[in-house]
Amino acid sequence: MSEIKRFGVSIDENLLEEFDELVEGKGYGSRSEAIRDLIREELIKKEWSEDEEVVGVITLLYDHHAHGLSDKLTELQHDSYHLVISTTHVHLDHDNCLEFMAVKGKGSEVKDLTYKLTSLKGVKHGKLTGTSTGEELD
Ligand code: NI
Repeated sequence: MSEIKRFGVSIDENLLEEFDELVEGKGYGSRSEAIRDLIREELIKKEWSEDEEVVGVITLLYDHHAHGLSDKLTELQHDSYHLVISTTHVHLDHDNCLEFMAVKGKGSEVKDLTYKLTSLKGVKHGKLTGTSTGEELD
């Protein structure tokens, strides 16, 4: 682990009060931990915007009875087998399925796959959550 550095921040009093409420509301142990999380979040956004190698999870909630939907979802995943590391399927109830896919690849390709999956008729909700190790991925 690299060395810990300290730095001072000048900030408007009202903004700091709001930030402290956020820090407390989210259960952070300190302002520092909250600031570190905000910085990491921005660095992840930067990685995705620069189309670097990224990792994430695509979540889909869909109607099991939608005509041909299961086949289309499987086909799209096979077309992008190089991006999809693993898929978990949960039969939520009689009608609904929840599926989450661990994905890894170029940001633009992962986003493109997400758009293709979530735009299919019968998909009620879909979301891509991007994350990062903070280091270059192999
Ligand atoms: Ni199911």
